[in-house]
Amino acid sequence: MTQIGRVGVVGAGLMGHGIAQVSAQGGYDVVLLDADAAALEKGLASVEKLLARAVEKGKLDAQDAAATRARIMGTTEHAGLADCDLVIEAIVERIEPKVALWGQLDAAVKPEAIFATNTSSLSVVEQAAASGRPDRFIGLHFFNPAQVMQLVEVIRAITSSEEAVALGTQYVERIGKTPVQTKDRAGFIVNRLLIPFLVDAVRGYEEGIGSIADIDAALRLGAGHPMGPLTLADFVGLDTLFGAAEGMFAEFRDPRLAPPSLLHKMRSAGWYGKKSGLGFYDWTGEKPVPNPGIDALRRV
Ligand SMILES: NC(=O)c1ccc[n+]([C@@H]2O[C@H](COP(=O)([O-])OP(=O)(O)OC[C@H]3O[C@@H](n4cnc5c(N)ncnc54)[C@H](O)[C@@H]3O)[C@@H](O)[C@H]2O)c1
Repeated sequence: MTQIGRVGVVGAGLMGHGIAQVSAQGGYDVVLLDADAAALEKGLASVEKLLARAVEKGKLDAQDAAATRARIMGTTEHAGLADCDLVIEAIVERIEPKVALWGQLDAAVKPEAIFATNTSSLSVVEQAAASGRPDRFIGLHFFNPAQVMQLVEVIRAITSSEEAVALGTQYVERIGKTPVQTKDRAGFIVNRLLIPFLVDAVRGYEEGIGSIADIDAALRLGAGHPMGPLTLADFVGLDTLFGAAEGMFAEFRDPRLAPPSLLHKMRSAGWYGKKSGLGFYDWTGEKPVPNPGIDALRRV
């Protein structure tokens, strides 16, 4: 069985930089690729910042932090991934760019390498079919922030080999996370339950069941959730939530999953949540405050 030594991560955004960091912390050599050089720099800078913070807090010693950083190489070229044993994709949550990427990576990466998608809700087998190596293709679904969240869902497509699933599971264990196995149904386990809940919270807000602050307080204080659903939606990214809901709607045809009108409008405004500074909250100040522009949108 192939042993995984070098891990490629495609997309240096919210998820990709975290996956690169935990892979390097697990002892793997990592190549982090982003099509956009500025996004790559930003991803690498985030890794450096988080490693420095871990050292400051005494959670990591300075030597280990330096060794971790030294194991991560950045690139904007597919050829940089040629020798990777495992390539994990964390680009935009739309099927067309993912399918196109796998075709390009099949030509660039050695044939025995395993490919894995970090999609939240899109079809794994559709990507596997486009990868030229459907048996060596699985899903590895991390949670945000990847540096902190303990779970990784290991997704078996109908084409995945036992070996690919076993290698993916071993990788997850080596980086100190807990794997759960699931099958290739939109949303897997966590999002199958979580996305309808978040979409309902947005629709409930749109219907006027409560203010942003009150909806979040209600679920924190009445249901014991660690954070309210609209705060969580901002953390997930409203563009990502939109894509996930659409993907699940396409598979299950349940109208409850269709992205609500407000989510369309916020996405069109470029309000993607915490990562863009505005979402249900304004994240640009000291503390997040409910986004004052939302009420104006709701009256449109
Ligand atoms: N945000 C979450 O909470 C979360 C959790 C689990 C999984 N995911 C999944 O992870 C993936 C990435 O999400 P994200 O939130 O990190 O997105 P993001 O927008 O923060 O980052 C995506 C990055 O991919 C780059 N990119 C886009 N197309 C590319 C291409 N063809 N080649 C190389 N780089 C490309 C972009 O420049 C960007 O830097 C999505 O599939 C999403 O569903 C997200």
